[in-house]
Amino acid sequence: MSHYTRPIAISKKIRAQGVKGPKYTIWNGSNEEIKNMTFKAEEIVMDINNHDFIPRVLPHYLKWMSLYGKTFTYWFGRTPRICILDSNQVKQILSNRTGIYPKVDPHPLSVLLGKGLVLSNGDQWARHRQVVNPAFHMDKLKMMTKSMAKCAQSMVEKWTEIITKAETESNQPVEMEVSSHFLEMTADVISHTAFGSNYMKGKEVFLAQKEQQMLLFKFLLKVPFPGYKYLPTKDNLYKRKLDKTVNDMLMQIINERFEKKECGYGNDLLGLMLEACMQGGEENRLSMEELIDESKTFFFAGHETTSHLLTWTMFLLGTNKEWQEKLREEVIRECGHDVPTGDVLNKLKLMNMVLLEALRLYGPVVNLRRQALQDLELGDIKVPKGTVLAIPVAILHRDKELWGPDADKFSPVRFENGVNKAAKHPNALLAFSIGPRSCIGQNFAMLEAKIVVSLILQRFSFNISPNYVHAPIELITLQPKFGLQMNIKRLE
Ligand code: HEM
Repeated sequence: MSHYTRPIAISKKIRAQGVKGPKYTIWNGSNEEIKNMTFKAEEIVMDINNHDFIPRVLPHYLKWMSLYGKTFTYWFGRTPRICILDSNQVKQILSNRTGIYPKVDPHPLSVLLGKGLVLSNGDQWARHRQVVNPAFHMDKLKMMTKSMAKCAQSMVEKWTEIITKAETESNQPVEMEVSSHFLEMTADVISHTAFGSNYMKGKEVFLAQKEQQMLLFKFLLKVPFPGYKYLPTKDNLYKRKLDKTVNDMLMQIINERFEKKECGYGNDLLGLMLEACMQGGEENRLSMEELIDESKTFFFAGHETTSHLLTWTMFLLGTNKEWQEKLREEVIRECGHDVPTGDVLNKLKLMNMVLLEALRLYGPVVNLRRQALQDLELGDIKVPKGTVLAIPVAILHRDKELWGPDADKFSPVRFENGVNKAAKHPNALLAFSIGPRSCIGQNFAMLEAKIVVSLILQRFSFNISPNYVHAPIELITLQPKFGLQMNIKRLE
């Protein structure tokens, strides 16, 4: 079947089962419609107490759900997608261990991450996960909390300096855009914890990776014609140069570690990964290219996600003063004004509940996707091979049938008895996904977030500035479009 007739044949197969959706448009599928709707939706400005950003971020889902029901089909370019909003089907997909629901291949992010853990599939994924797993064990992470605390301390010291200076100049509350501070701090944390003594070089890699990401955004909704990437266009040449810079620098860092291996590979993520890699049998070892892809993955997967979790948590604490007070009391009760250690962090129950609620309402990952490896059956749907199963996490996270009538409200108490009892389905919270491909860095991210929020609460009180515009946007991860402006006051 040709490029042109295959989508039409698949569309017929899906529709014949009563799964409806927008019509297939040759080559672009539904992309133009998505682009137009999201472009228009970006004009929506929300009230700061309204957490339902779906009309802004996923307007196409909202429209198609109202027209075609919860299970509908649409097209991303020439790839068919089916939207899955049934928790049992979601679990069936994400918990499957047989490999019939792999990650989408080719994936638009593969230019950034190669075949690292986030995008690889099958045996290759299993081999990578085995090598990377030991680096994320809780005992290893607890050792990394020192580095995390150091970076967080340096950020709050900077805040103190800025605020003290501004306070002496005027009596007004001091306004700061905090999301950029979190981006810088989480980049520092991942550079230190992933690359230890090589962290300066690590940061250079990180900056080049950011450039790659910007280029990627430019082309995300465009469907390129075959072979386009090989043309010597300005963007393609720049992209190749960036790819080479990132790969060369990472190779240099990794080679240096191999050269100094008599002193151990190091206690950072890279060192722990190299150690696990060299301890395993020859057949399990990762090649240089694979080690490079995995190093890129640490940055990509661990940086913006954690930073945005911090931003949205500050937003929610800024709009809910009594929770801000409750958390401050908890932190002071458990560790006074000291930097919390790994054991203290474990005792911060309210903090944990607030972070989980932030992940529910403003989880940085808005969508999860898997692709049918073969023709298969999911509940009563016959899914043709190659179809992408789209799981709109953000919609599921505010489903009233799952979370109750207050699903749109900020209510950390729902997590009082743990994640599994917070909703009608034990796997309703999908912020870190579930199953074998769930986030390997979730404990890392939660430890980091707890340290940073604790240090902030010990030193400052804060609320949302009237200049803040509530406009969440999905740029790979969910973030405030215009940053988060907060009024911050030093505590005596
Ligand atoms: C708040 C912070 C974070 C959030 C919300 C988050 C979310 C997620 C989600 C939803 C997935 C599954 C993606 C999918 O199935 O397509 C994932 C996978 C992954 N995450 Fe995270 N993540 C966070 C922090 C981190 C950190 C700090 C690291 C590492 C330093 C990390 C590394 C990874 C890796 C390597 C995977 C792929 C795992 C696999 O497929 O085996 N993440 N993350």
